Parts: sequence; C-alpha cells; structure tokens
Amino acid sequence: MKNSIPAWLRIPIVFLIIVVLVELTIDSGNKLAIIERPEVSLFLIFVLLLLIGIEAIVRSLENILYQTLDAEAKERYNLKRSSQSKVLIWVKETYAKLRGGKEMEEEHEIILDHNYDGIRELDNDLPPWWLYGFYASIVFAFVYMARYHIFDGENQYDELQANLEQAKVEIEEYKKGAKDLVDFSTVTVLVDASDLKAGKTIYEMNCVACHKADGGGGIGPNLTDKHWILGGGIKNVFKTISEGGRAGKGMIAWKQSLKPAEMAQVSSYVLQFQGTTPTDGKEQEGDIWVDENAPKEAIPSSAMEVKSNDVLEIEKD
Ligand code: HEC
Repeated sequence: MKNSIPAWLRIPIVFLIIVVLVELTIDSGNKLAIIERPEVSLFLIFVLLLLIGIEAIVRSLENILYQTLDAEAKERYNLKRSSQSKVLIWVKETYAKLRGGKEMEEEHEIILDHNYDGIRELDNDLPPWWLYGFYASIVFAFVYMARYHIFDGENQYDELQANLEQAKVEIEEYKKGAKDLVDFSTVTVLVDASDLKAGKTIYEMNCVACHKADGGGGIGPNLTDKHWILGGGIKNVFKTISEGGRAGKGMIAWKQSLKPAEMAQVSSYVLQFQGTTPTDGKEQEGDIWVDENAPKEAIPSSAMEVKSNDVLEIEKD
C-alpha cells in the first residue's frame, strides 16, 4: 500500500479537519455551529458518508486490481500489506522513547541490592516526558516571575479593570442600538432631526386633540410656557407622558400604547414648544419650573465691584 496512514485513522482525521474548518468559517457566535445550525450537522453527516464511500470505492478498486495480479505479484503485495504501517511504528517508537525505562530483559542491569522480604527495587531513570516537563516548568516559573514581578505585567486586577471598561463601552454601544431601554431616570433630550420629526408625528397623531398642534393647550394644559403642573424638564415630561397625569384629569398613561423610544421622541418634541407663542394659548397652570442642574445665570458685571486687592465682591440686592 502506498498510503502509510490506515483507513481507520484517515477517515476520522480528514473528517475532523473538515469539522474544524466548518467551525472556523461559519460565524455562529459563542456557540458551536453544529449546535446552533442543524443544517451544518446534516452537511457534516453527508461529508462523513461521502468519506466512507470514497474509502470503500478505493478498497474495491484495489481488490479488483489485486485479482488481476499473477501469483508472484500477489505474494509481494501481501507481504507489503502485512508489514505494519509507518505511522503506527512511529507512534510506538516515540511512545517508548518518551516513556524511557528498560525492557524486561535488561532489567537486571538496574536492579538495586536491597531485598525487602523478596520485594526488590528497580533504579529506573526518570521518564523523559516527566523530566522535560519539569525543566519546562522551571523555565516557565522564571519567565512568569520576570514578567509579573519584575516587569510589571498585567495582573488580574488590571485585567478586571480592562474588562470592566470594555464592558462599559459595550453597554453604551448596546444602549445606542436599544433605544427602548430608556425610562424617566435615564432619558435625555433628543436633538436628532429624525427623532424630533418622529416626535412631531406621534404628537400630531395622539396629543393635538387636547394640547393643540402649537402646544397652546385645550383640555390639556399649555405646553409652551414655563409653568408646569407636573414638573418640567425632559425627565418629568417623560414621566408624565409615560405614567399619565393626575387621576380624572384626562391625561392617560401613554406607556400602554407608545414605546419608550417613542415617548422619549415626543417628550423632546414637546420641549421644543418652550418659549413659543401659541395662538390663543391657555392661561398658565402650575408653577414655574426651575431646573436645578441648569447653570446659574451669569452675574451681571454691573453688580460687581473690583477692589484694589483684587477680591471680587458681589452686591446683594
Ligand atoms: C384626552 C386629552 C389628552 C390627550 C390626548 C393628551 N393629554 Fe397631555 N394632558 C392632558 C391633561 C388634562 C393634562 C393635565 C394633567 C393633570 O393636571 O394632572 C395633561 C398633561 C400633560 C403634560 C404635563 C403638563 C404639565 O403642565 O405638567 C404633558 C407633558 C402632556 N400632557 C403631554 C402629552 C402628550 C405628549 C400627549 C400625546 C402623546 C398627550 N399629552 C395627550 C390631556 C391630554
């Protein structure tokens, strides 16, 4: 036989290579493609059958050729076949080398003199695989020590920190994609023209009946002035829209029919009314809303007096 790898090894090896290639090329996230995608397993079963089929065809071709040989050639062929495959011989030799130790027949060379009630001891060398593993671990220990204790390599704490930072970035990314995750505590004013346009559409479809197209108010209060019944600013407005107004007033909880992202859009749109003058606007209701986080108004320079020693004093009125 020309081929040195026997068929019972050849088929699994080729099959394994194909499986690995399939896993590497098909993107199936963290899970294995054979588990995630049933068609992949079907394909692999087909490949396996094909491999076995090819092997069988090659076998029978060999058989046919064998029948055409004359007696002498058959003899030579048989001899070659029965000799062990090169791979097997290599595996056996390597194993013996790694294991070290003496053959049974040579054991008298290493037997020790002690005799414990008839039990005697062999002075075997350490098995090479073990010995070299031990040396390798010593080398590893030095490399490890140098890297982490001398050259300040990245330790677990640094790795954790890096992972946490990476996770933060990923969460931000995710939130950008998942706009519906907002609630009144996280909502921010949307400034994108597309969001405001969507907000306008939602407002015109749901809110104009009570608040008027220009926000002037009707059944519902005026949304253009600085006075708010339920609190101004994006967070309060979002909350009012989401949870509704006071019972019996007519402002329902819109979270039943609008998605969080839509409520954020319409809230941002509603805030655009601030400072506009609606035709026929409703009188003010509620209190003036002051955003506690807003920057304090600039102090007029006329209220300041520069003293000679450069200390600023603010005039009280
Ligand atoms: C059926 C009439 C009605 C509809 C429709 C309606 N509202 Fe209202 N809205 C009201 C009333 C009434 C109030 C006052 C609630 C209160 O006094 O508790 C109010 C209050 C509000 C407030 C708070 C005003 C303040 O001064 O605190 C906002 C913001 C608001 N609505 C936005 C909207 C938005 C956005 C829509 C559409 C998605 C909408 N409303 C649809 C009747 C309505």
